[in-house]
Amino acid sequence: MEITVFRALIIVVVAADGCLGQITQRGKCPFVPTKPDFDVSFYTGRWYEQEKFPAAFEANQVCISADYYLIPTGGVRVINRGFNVVQNRDVTISGDAVQSPSQPGKLGVRFFPGQPRQPYNILDTDYTTYSVVFSCQESTRNGYPSNQQFLWVLTRQPWGISPQLRHKLLAKVERFGINTSYLTRTQQQNCSYGN
Ligand SMILES: *[C@@H]1O[C@H](CO)[C@@H](O)[C@H](O)[C@H]1NC(C)=O
Ligand SMILES: *[C@@H]1O[C@H](CO)[C@@H](O)[C@H](O)[C@H]1NC(C)=O
Repeated sequence: MEITVFRALIIVVVAADGCLGQITQRGKCPFVPTKPDFDVSFYTGRWYEQEKFPAAFEANQVCISADYYLIPTGGVRVINRGFNVVQNRDVTISGDAVQSPSQPGKLGVRFFPGQPRQPYNILDTDYTTYSVVFSCQESTRNGYPSNQQFLWVLTRQPWGISPQLRHKLLAKVERFGINTSYLTRTQQQNCSYGN
């Protein structure tokens, strides 16, 4: 009975997002702790996106990568690149991220000055192989609390990680109440990455 009620409360309203296909659910964001001892200096450099929850701002993109650099005055410079297969062109967007002073694995990123920062929370990373990043924002929809979720699995190598490691990481994500069945794979084949 409890479980049935719970299931009913997390009705997915993907359809309401129409063609965006973004993951919107009823209720508040799940509580997802960040990596407690996160050290951003080991996190810099190139990452390749292997899997993600659908995100309108990445629609139609393949060969997606992210580069992170420490800004000497503080914060992290972010450069996201991809190839848009509909527009047949490379797309690049740059922004910056800042860490929460009390929670180093909690970052806020923005791509336009003055824009509110979006959460970029490091759920787990070993710095050299994988990173799992979660972002969730709450809003009210038709008078109900709702939340929009983004999840990314980033890897240091374009070809990704082993099925065993992937399985372990997704099991960890599931334990925090995130439904990994919404993950979609990012094509990372036949890419000519910028530098
Ligand atoms: C995860 O989402 C899928 C697709 O909507 C659904 O079939 C499944 O029941 C969900 N799993 C959980 C644990 O809610
Ligand atoms: C990558 O290139 C190979 C060789 O041209 C081709 O067979 C394969 O289908 C391509 N893969 C993708 C995903 O474009």
